[in-house]
Parts: sequence; structure tokens; C-alpha cells
Amino acid sequence: MSRKYLIAGNWKMNKTASEAADLIREIHAAVGSQTTVQVCVCPPFTSLAAASELVEQSEIILGAQDMSPHASGAYTGEISAEMLRDLYVGFVILGHSERRQYYGETNQSVNAKVLAAVQNNLKPIYCIGETLEEREAGQTLEVVRSQVREGLENFPAASVENLVLAYEPVWAIGTGKTATDEMAQEVHADIRKVLVELFGEGPGASVRILYGGSMKPENAAGLLAQPDVDGGLIGGASLTSRAFSGIVEAVLEA
Ligand code: 13P
Repeated sequence: MSRKYLIAGNWKMNKTASEAADLIREIHAAVGSQTTVQVCVCPPFTSLAAASELVEQSEIILGAQDMSPHASGAYTGEISAEMLRDLYVGFVILGHSERRQYYGETNQSVNAKVLAAVQNNLKPIYCIGETLEEREAGQTLEVVRSQVREGLENFPAASVENLVLAYEPVWAIGTGKTATDEMAQEVHADIRKVLVELFGEGPGASVRILYGGSMKPENAAGLLAQPDVDGGLIGGASLTSRAFSGIVEAVLEA
């Protein structure tokens, strides 16, 4: 089963709309025309409209960092799937550990968002990963398995091809501590097993599982060479074209 690599930049709460435009132009110039690796940028909501016009002339796909599970109505501050589709957003990051940690998101509340995303033809990048405490207590696989099962409850089999998972060990996010290649592969292979259980051999094997957590050009090649690591969800290193494109190039040169 060959899965196309996906390198996605999660800009988090960084960049104004004009800064975002500059960065997208730079990324476009560096890696925006190649089609070997799928490249996605996820700026804040306030930059999506400007970004949408810029990526139109490139192979870069636009992503959002969150989404409401509701279709419309009295939900102050929220953004719907339809609003994202209207700006040609393709991917949406859901259940990022920062949203779980600071905004009380749970497997159940993220599940509602994942289902709303696929119903609206958005591709969810569903994030999972254990905390340092959980890893040290030997609970990593157990925690990640329930995140996968509960977050993907009732996920429609017909949409499995649109599903992306991102394994982001919480202790590796923004800390400079990366999982070793072997640690990442161990968890990715286990996630793959759960996906096969849920959706069957072929569909389970088609889902891309990204690694996230201090990925940078220097460590990307080793992580991305693992059989079940199908790309990266990049935070800090996605904020400069040099580092982000360097990761894409690490795949192209492999
Ligand atoms: P860093 O690459 O900054 O560790 O962040 C990873 C992340 O949270 C991507 O979603």
C-alpha cells in the first residue's frame, strides 16, 4: 500500500495575515510546485482568506486548526465547516493536544468535530498522543488506542480515504525532545493495527499517520523513513520557509 507523504504546517497562533502571505509565497517558491509530497499549511483563521487566494496557483493545500461541530447558529466565536469549505480549505486539524489541554476538548467532543468535518468533505487531521506522565507509567499504547477508538466512533467507512491521523506525543511538542525513530514507529504500527480492526485491512492500510513533535530538517529523514510514518505535522519548524521546506526536501531526497 503506497501512501503519499503529507507534510503539514500547524502555525498555531502565529503570523498576521500579511506575514502569512509572505510565508506562503516563500513556501510556494521553494516546494509549491512539486507533486511528490503533499504540502499543507494551517494558518490561523484570520489568514485563511488571504492564504486561500495565494495557494490557488500552487499545489499547496490549505488547512485550518479547529472547527465547530455545529453547522451554524448561536455559537459565538466559532467557525463552521461550511465557512472553511467556502475558502477552499482541504484539511482541518482536530483534537490537537493544546486544545485538549487548554480548552477542555475530549475524545468525545473531538469525535463530533471529526464526523462534522467528513460530512462536509473536509479531511480531518485527528491528533492523538500521550503525556509524559502517561508514557512513564507505561500507558502510551492504551491511551493512544482509546483516543483512536473514541475519537473515530461512527466514522463512516466510505470516508476512510479522507482520514489522516497525527501522533503527537505531548512531551515532544515544542520541547525540542523528539521521539526516536523506533518510538514513533512502535506507536504508529499500533495505531495502524487499531485502524485495521476498525475499518479492515485495505482501508486501514490507506490511512496516513503523521508524526508531530519537534520535527525539523535534521531529524525528519529518520522519522519519515519508518514504514508507518507517512508525514509530519510541524509546529515551530513550519514558521520559516527554510525549515519547513527543508523537511519537504528531506522526503524528496530520500
Ligand atoms: P512542534 O513542532 O513545535 O514541536 O509542534 C508540534 C505540533 O504541535 C504540531 O501540531
